[in-house]
Amino acid sequence: MISLCLLRCLIVYPWTQRYFGSFGNLYNAAAITSNPKVAAHGKVVIAGLEKAVKNMDDIKTTYKDLSVLHSEKLQVDPDNFNLLADCLTIVVAGQMGAAFTPEVHAAFQKFLAVVVASLRKQYY
Ligand code: HEM
Repeated sequence: MISLCLLRCLIVYPWTQRYFGSFGNLYNAAAITSNPKVAAHGKVVIAGLEKAVKNMDDIKTTYKDLSVLHSEKLQVDPDNFNLLADCLTIVVAGQMGAAFTPEVHAAFQKFLAVVVASLRKQYY
């Protein structure tokens, strides 16, 4: 499942856990992996990305509210968007195997760069 990207992000970059204080036990990789709130939020993030895919020609407008939420309310350090994007790339590459060609990778990177820039928009 692609929502494994949030799991991976919380495990590999443990400082990202600080934003998820209400999610309960994130003590170690096993706890994070079996935490139902993490799994549910992974799906929320993927649904957010689907929205970007469906509005590919104007991701900045699509993500306006999401950018305000992450900056003003959640106060997420925007560098973390790149970390989650990298985790997503790794998970997708692992699932696609040989089909994740350099061309697919390039297109995916380009898409994620726009996603990250759109989420960062409110920070400038
Ligand atoms: C690709 C990047 C990301 C996308 C597409 C994304 C998407 C979303 C979406 C769709 C929501 C739900 C918004 C709502 O309830 O209206 C959300 C909430 C949230 N996001 Fe993100 N997010 C991203 C990156 C991050 C990162 C890197 C962090 C922190 C390290 C983060 C922390 C949070 C938190 C704490 C919430 C609220 C969770 C809750 O209490 O339910 N997000 N995000």
